[in-house]
Amino acid sequence: MERITMSKAQEFLGKEIKIGAWVTNKRSSGKIAFLQLRDGDYYFQGIVLKNEVEPEVFETAKGLTQETSIMLTGVVQEDTRSKLGYELLVKDIEVLGESHDYPITPKEHGTEFLMDHRHLWLRSSKQHAILKIRNEIIRATYEFFNKEGFMKVDPPILTGSAPEGTTELFHTEYFDQEAYLSQSGQLYMEAAAMAFGKVFSFGPTFRAEKSKTRRHLIEFWMMEPEMAFMHQDESLEVQEQYVAYLIQSVLDNCDYYLDVLERDKEVLKKYTQLPYDRISYDDAIELLHKNDFTDITWGDDFGSPHETFIAEQSDRPVFILNYPKAIKPFYMKEHPDRDDVVLCADLIAPEGYGEIIGGSEREVNYDKLSQQIENFGLSLEDYEWYLDLRRYGSVPHSGFGLGLERTVTWISGTEHIRESTAFPRLLNRLYP
Ligand code: 4AD
Ligand code: MG
Repeated sequence: MERITMSKAQEFLGKEIKIGAWVTNKRSSGKIAFLQLRDGDYYFQGIVLKNEVEPEVFETAKGLTQETSIMLTGVVQEDTRSKLGYELLVKDIEVLGESHDYPITPKEHGTEFLMDHRHLWLRSSKQHAILKIRNEIIRATYEFFNKEGFMKVDPPILTGSAPEGTTELFHTEYFDQEAYLSQSGQLYMEAAAMAFGKVFSFGPTFRAEKSKTRRHLIEFWMMEPEMAFMHQDESLEVQEQYVAYLIQSVLDNCDYYLDVLERDKEVLKKYTQLPYDRISYDDAIELLHKNDFTDITWGDDFGSPHETFIAEQSDRPVFILNYPKAIKPFYMKEHPDRDDVVLCADLIAPEGYGEIIGGSEREVNYDKLSQQIENFGLSLEDYEWYLDLRRYGSVPHSGFGLGLERTVTWISGTEHIRESTAFPRLLNRLYP
């Protein structure tokens, strides 16, 4: 007899199988026990009929407590009332691990309590669905970039460079030197693009941000493509195609999980329509002023109410182009006709989820770049290797970074970014 998970229910319809599961809830009367079960893939029902099993099996079923692990023998049958569409008619139950006084009960719990029990909270259907969607986004990311001819290159995590500014670095000892945890792999990816053309990285990045918002993590995963011989306008096309691809993949492969989260699929479908609108930073400021936002002037970075308002002008994500040079990192290419803005864009997600992508064309002019490194208070010596990329066969190139957790939060329709990763690192949280 084969051991399966309910992901194979269709294939094993009417057949007797074994399945390992945990009990999430149970209801029983004199003649029938309804077990709410989960097997890692899905949440489903097991039915135990007193007249059809050995007496001790029915007794075992009646005594099952929340999160007890069991090995079940039973027959897969259709269950049109459940989301999954299948249930298990149980024949035998072997208890593997008992569970008593499970802390997360079906009643409401506060966020801090749930975060303290994150290692268990992962088992609940909503958290499970969010992380399944995260997994699909990761899968689709590799598929998209492989299909488009990108090569994956892994930048280092221990580094001596600070592409996104020096205020939010995690410092660590590196024998007798000082190192930081990477805040972005970009500079290394630029080197990789000069060797391999089109590259992408996907790995953890760290920012010691003192922000305690629903959009910020201390440790998050970033997808960073870098493309040689590519200008910013072409990079925007790659970005929107990639985002639309992620949405379509989740719609195609995570229907069950979107239903668990009660995510509106019609809204998601709109996000697959391209192109996304583009608005310049200048026009965005003007638009905000026309709409009585008096708390921002040209030169300021947008706060989340500003981003939300700008994104509300469309029913899809919006690119904001060409920000002031002073509020963006040193490596961005100066606009060809103006020295006060750079060739960059942030992609702002709808529904108040904020920036999910930051990207730009990179400065290739050696003098401008080295001047910028100094302007940002960085030491030229540390960036000699980076300047080499402009000394030896430099080409126009562009790239971007997509924040995985922000994207997961948005696509899954989750309130707070802390639920988009298994074990979030937050300002005041290192446990569990
Ligand atoms: O805009 P950022 O800072 O861009 C870079 O790091 C570039 N070097 C990327 C590149 O061009 N290769 O970060 C990129 C994205 C943001 O748009 C956001 O989605 C995410 O990373 N991000 C965060 N996500 C969660 N928590 C934080 N503290 C984040 N900071 C940035
Ligand atoms: Mg940014």
